[in-house]
Order: sequence, then structure tokens, then C-alpha cells
Amino acid sequence: MDGQDHDSEFPQQGRERLILRQPIALLGTGEPNDEAALLARLGPDAVMMMGDNPALPRMPRAPKLLDFFRLRFQDITFRHLLQSAKLALDEGMDENVVMACLLHDISNGALLRTDHGYWGAQLIAPYVAEEVAWAVQYHQALRYFPDESVGYRYPESYDHFFGRDYVPPEYIRRDAEIARRHRWYMTSRLVTMHDLYSFDPNVEIDPEIFTDIIGRNFRQPEDGLGFDGSPVAHMWRTMIWPNNFL
Ligand SMILES: [Fe+2]
Ligand SMILES: [Fe+2]
Repeated sequence: MDGQDHDSEFPQQGRERLILRQPIALLGTGEPNDEAALLARLGPDAVMMMGDNPALPRMPRAPKLLDFFRLRFQDITFRHLLQSAKLALDEGMDENVVMACLLHDISNGALLRTDHGYWGAQLIAPYVAEEVAWAVQYHQALRYFPDESVGYRYPESYDHFFGRDYVPPEYIRRDAEIARRHRWYMTSRLVTMHDLYSFDPNVEIDPEIFTDIIGRNFRQPEDGLGFDGSPVAHMWRTMIWPNNFL
């Protein structure tokens, strides 16, 4: 642990470092993809961004889960995940439920919003109990479907986001039905229940209160998330270096 960059073999200091935005963030927005214009600016004093972007807080060499919370996640996701997990903790829920709440929107934090439940589940699958990843995946679909037996109603916020006449697509309806019949249904359903009440911008929660639960339920790789050679390591590296040209 010498605190050096993983990318220290690419000394880009002193030169302008150009950032091409991710194509998926621009598609359909009408904003131009400025690749040709950026490439035209390359020269002795300008290179494409690779490695640590000085505009972002530097990640430790072997990053752990909470480093991503603190150093990469958007504020709204940081607060939302901590609040929903704290609710589950205070209600004495099973640690699988607390973990699923803590991780359920992890993809929204610094990766992708589209199909965030599926991306999030994949991101954490090598490190958590199968039930936790499963609950994260299916919470996305279950959010659209009320369950009166446990007091879960369709979110008012979804009427606001999508319009009252919104109908979720077929794959979401199918996956919600699969989830409803599954033995881990309630784990995922409890995620959706805590989801509703966890958007208070004034609640401050110290992520460290989850250190012990994470220690017991999230197998943090010794080399750090992103550097353990797992099938999802590149997804964590993408959050460490979100501006890399390649
Ligand atoms: Fe979600
Ligand atoms: Fe959520």
C-alpha cells in the first residue's frame, strides 16, 4: 500500500487531459458527441484522459466498498442507500436485508441508471450472498407492483416521474412475477419498502456504522474492488476512472 496511482506509468501531468463523455450518456439527448473535435486538439500539450482525474477525489490503491460510497457516489445515492439500510438495521432486519438495502441502488451511485437493479446485482454478485444480489436485481421490478399484504403501495414518486398512465415493459412485469413466486421474495420486497422512506436530504448517517455488517457480509478482495481479477472488476474500475478514453 504505497498510495501511488495504479496508472503511474502514464505520466500525464503538465498536459491538458481531454475527456470524451461516455456515448451512452449522450445518445438521444441531442448533445453532440465531440470526439472529432477533441481528437483535433491532441498534441504535445494535450492528451486524452487516462487514469486519475485530478477533478475527482483519489481512490485508495485497494479500494473497499465504502470508498466508493464516499469518493464516487452522487450525494443523493449516498444518502439514500445509507438511510434505507439504517431503517432496516433499526427495525432489526436480517443482515441480508440490511445489505440488500445498502446496495440496492449502487449502480445509480456512479455507474448507470438504466436497468440499475440488474447492473447493481452483477456488480456485487461475487462478494455477497446470492440472496442479496438476487434481492438487488429484483427490487427494480418489484417497485412497480403493490403488495397490500405487507402494505407496499405503488410509489407516488413514480406517478410524478413517469406519468400516471405509465405501464412498465414486459420484461419488468415478467421479472416481478418471477420474484413474487420466489423463496427470497420478501428480501427484495423489504428493499422496496425501505426505499420509499429514504430520501431525506437532512439525515446524516455515518457510513462507518455499517463497517461490521459489511465485514461479515461483503467479501472485500485484498487487492481492492477493481483489481481482484473477478468477472466484474472492470465495472468497479470504470467507477474509479470514469473518464478514461479507453
Ligand atoms: Fe432502485
Ligand atoms: Fe432506492
